[in-house]
Amino acid sequence: MKEYSVCIVGGGSTFTPGFLKSFVRLREKFPIKKLVLFDIDKERQELVGKFGEILYKEHFPELDFSYTTDIKEAYSGMDFIFMQMRSGGLPMRQVDEHIPFAHGKIGQETCGAGGLSYGLRSVVDMIKAIYDIRTYAKDAWILNYSNPAAIVAEALRREFPDDKKILNICDQPENVIRSVSRLLNVDWEDLDPIYFGLNHFGWFKHIYDVNTGEDLLPKVKQIVKEKGFLPQDAEQRDASWLDTYGFVEKMLEDFPDYLPNTYNQYYLYPEYKFSKLDPNYTRADEVMASREKRVFSECEEVIKAGTLGDKFETISDAHAEMMIEVAISIAYNKNNRYILIVENNGAINNLQDDAMVEVVCELGINGPRPMRVGNIPQLYYGLLANQVSSEKLLVDAYYENSYTKALHAFTINRLVNDVTVARELLDALIEANKGYWPELK
Ligand code: NAD
Ligand code: G6P
Ligand code: MN
Repeated sequence: MKEYSVCIVGGGSTFTPGFLKSFVRLREKFPIKKLVLFDIDKERQELVGKFGEILYKEHFPELDFSYTTDIKEAYSGMDFIFMQMRSGGLPMRQVDEHIPFAHGKIGQETCGAGGLSYGLRSVVDMIKAIYDIRTYAKDAWILNYSNPAAIVAEALRREFPDDKKILNICDQPENVIRSVSRLLNVDWEDLDPIYFGLNHFGWFKHIYDVNTGEDLLPKVKQIVKEKGFLPQDAEQRDASWLDTYGFVEKMLEDFPDYLPNTYNQYYLYPEYKFSKLDPNYTRADEVMASREKRVFSECEEVIKAGTLGDKFETISDAHAEMMIEVAISIAYNKNNRYILIVENNGAINNLQDDAMVEVVCELGINGPRPMRVGNIPQLYYGLLANQVSSEKLLVDAYYENSYTKALHAFTINRLVNDVTVARELLDALIEANKGYWPELK
């Protein structure tokens, strides 16, 4: 079995320790010989890196593990590169979420003005990172889930049209499927979904039982109505995530056709969500107070103790495991099914070909093979065409350094939807993103 070399970009991310443990748990299925963490922030990288050294000394001593802030060291000889950078860090996520609030709008990290703000930062940094990677690892598979994944995917599609080894992925559809499996008390791998949409704006059209072929969606809707909806890993979730999953019940009441992605709440209920959210304490604040604190204190404790002790939990890290399984499906040409972000080209028949859509794909050594969902009804078409336009206009703004295109992207976005507010928001975000965004003239 070939042994692979792997790099994680954003090695200081709150998600990295979960990955490091998952590489141990999955070592039989995905034998890696070398793992390098790369980050531009030396301090964050060192903290997670030192944790990794102790983890692997105790649980995977044969692994050649290192961490670095040097791109050549990071990328040379790599087979798989997992990308989880947060351009501007959590403090800029706070800006993306707080500024729109001050203008009466929702600023989520991937939806609305917040997503557009983060989008322009990510496009700049992701394009640079991919040129760096291709300088040192021209054949590596690049698995990107840095957000906002929809906008990043659109920019990478344009910048690297011939590069067939860049894959954009989000774990949320699989998180929803795992949550459905908890609800039905079945194994999530026995659920075979049909899904369509854009990243963070999609729906499950069917959820088949792989053993019987029965469409379980009607049953799922009924149980959600009776019992509500919880994430599969509810016990480990912050309050806002429990609210988010719980809100699926309301979305199903109003739109009973399909099971929605949880992020649809922002696009479909912006006024309600706005009234419920605290403008001074958004998700960025919550992440800094919870996930970031929890993960980094665990690293600090392990480093201080010099041992992992009982901190090598056996509970699964669904996010990391999904991303590693994706690499396995490519590496061993398994053609397993994943919901991936790909160029449409007819997968959603009545949506433009060059939209980056999220659909079920078979994934093997030559990349994703999307499955067709046919025509989607007018309501969904209208919602998606509008959002595709906003995302594409933002990427136009990047390429043309165009203030006007950015203004159009904000104006057409459902979570802004007013040209005066769009202009105010854009001006405020230009100021806040100095040094990150390209110049818009
Ligand atoms: P974080 O801020 O804790 O970690 C991000 C790390 O990236 C930081 O250590 C930062 O220094 C580093 N970084 C920033 N710019 C970089 C660059 N140009 N090159 C290399 N490293 C850089 O953030 P987080 O909450 O852990 O999330 C990390 C990323 O993963 C975010 O983009 C998040 O949205 C994404 N994510 C996506 C999914 C998905 O399903 N699509 C799931 C989980 C996380
Ligand atoms: C889900 C989404 C990701 C997002 C992650 C964490 O998995 O699909 O895109 O990055 O949640 O979100 P949070 O708000 O907890 O940082
Ligand atoms: Mn996502």
